[in-house]
Amino acid sequence: MYRIGQGFDIHQLVEERDLILGGVRIENCKGLLGHSDADALCHAIIDAMLGALALGDIGMHFPDDDPQYYGCDSTELLKDVLYLVIKIGNIDCTIKAQTPKLSPYIDEIRSNLANILKIRMNQISVKAKTMEGMGPIGESKAIAVDAVVLLEEIIV
Ligand code: CDP
Ligand code: ZN
Repeated sequence: MYRIGQGFDIHQLVEERDLILGGVRIENCKGLLGHSDADALCHAIIDAMLGALALGDIGMHFPDDDPQYYGCDSTELLKDVLYLVIKIGNIDCTIKAQTPKLSPYIDEIRSNLANILKIRMNQISVKAKTMEGMGPIGESKAIAVDAVVLLEEIIV
């Protein structure tokens, strides 16, 4: 049975935090603020998978006031959600970021996620868009991510 899911995440961009997207550290820029490593790309993919499974959202499975998730590596949360899925069809994501320029990192992010999710590179699409200078993302105060996932087989 095919199941489709959609996920969204946004975090504030601040000084003195690392920027981690899809488990990849982006050099020489501000980072995302959050209880975990604030990897908005992983978080949006997790929500898309949980959405496809109709199993709630990331906060219900990994509460952001639970000390065990403080500073945690969000790729570990993604691996936990993967146990509920037998077969991923494809994933498509858009990172909304005015800065930094992400195109040099896109293939490394796709490759890292493909390894974690045990899928091929051509099953994971990651795109980046500015907000043309408009709004909080356009002012580099935040980064947001939209993700869509198609699951081909599920466990639950
Ligand atoms: O040209 P258009 O207005 O559709 O898009 P844009 O937001 O100006 O972004 C142009 C291109 O820059 C995108 O297609 C991405 O490949 C790249 N980009 C990036 O590398 N890093 C970002 N943070 C945003 C966009
Ligand atoms: Zn998040």
